[in-house]
Amino acid sequence: MEFEHISVLAEETIENLNIKPDGIYADLTLGKGGHSKKILEKLSDKGRLIAFDQDKEAIMAAKENLKDFSNVIYVNTNFENFESTLKDLNISKIDGALMDIGVSSYQIDNASRGFSYMHDGPLDMRMDVENELTAETIVNEYSKEELTEIFSKYGEERFSKTIARNIVDYRNKQRIDTTFKLRDIVNKSVRTKEAHPEKRVFQALRIEVNRELEVLENTIEDVVDHLNVGGRLCIITFHSLEDRIVKNKFKDLEKDCTCPPGLPVCVCDTVRKVKIITNKPIVAGKKELSENSRSKSAKLRVCQRV
Ligand SMILES: C[S@@+](CC[C@H](N)C(=O)[O-])C[C@H]1O[C@@H](n2cnc3c(N)ncnc32)[C@H](O)[C@@H]1O
Repeated sequence: MEFEHISVLAEETIENLNIKPDGIYADLTLGKGGHSKKILEKLSDKGRLIAFDQDKEAIMAAKENLKDFSNVIYVNTNFENFESTLKDLNISKIDGALMDIGVSSYQIDNASRGFSYMHDGPLDMRMDVENELTAETIVNEYSKEELTEIFSKYGEERFSKTIARNIVDYRNKQRIDTTFKLRDIVNKSVRTKEAHPEKRVFQALRIEVNRELEVLENTIEDVVDHLNVGGRLCIITFHSLEDRIVKNKFKDLEKDCTCPPGLPVCVCDTVRKVKIITNKPIVAGKKELSENSRSKSAKLRVCQRV
């Protein structure tokens, strides 16, 4: 299957990275390398790009896409290993970084990866296929209460309880092992006229399988800690749960003191690490919206190391 993916907010991201030709940059979510290619086009032979992806197939596709560039270091790992990877590479500081969170169109469109309610496939949803936890395990082995919580928390699904109950009833008779079996159970559980009511449950499972919110939350500060002063971190997110994490984390990192109000002197020793560049997130313009439907929900936030 062809690895197709149109990069979102590409111009805006590259512009905001303020790329220095001899600098070191990190793309934490390489995918097919659409954003990376634009970074590499601005780098000299001395510049370097460290490119992370936890999906082997993405790394392979990017290697082909970026074969004209010799200054890329490919790292097939979760970006939560950012710090240890830099240490292994003997790099202490970088000049900018990008995170384009979530899955690529290739992962979604490839039925065998099990991300999509549009294609019938195994209920998998792992970005890193070496990981043990799949969506099938969650759906068949988590308790009704755990399923309810995941659907509410990660899918903001108001029929979570009913869906979880119907999943448990169904799996008592037969295993739920395909995307379409799950889709049908969800559709029978909700009262709505919307086109794809199953989308929130799929989103929730994907987040749980890949620990998406946890790794995002844990990695932002690690990246900021390794930015040179003036270096920027650009993060593109696709739903409100991710965007909230980025917004709040940037705000925390901008604070000079986190002591409770009313203390006579600061006891927290918190030092401001960033300046927020985008008070409101950057969103896609009309042209991009008309060319790429994925851009509809994209939000870009940028901060700069101080
Ligand atoms: C939206 S795509 C990136 C597309 C890329 N920016 C482009 O323009 O081609 C996200 C990619 O990041 C990877 N990814 C998501 N979360 C990750 C994580 N925690 N660690 C490493 N890779 C991750 C996914 O496997 C996927 O290939």
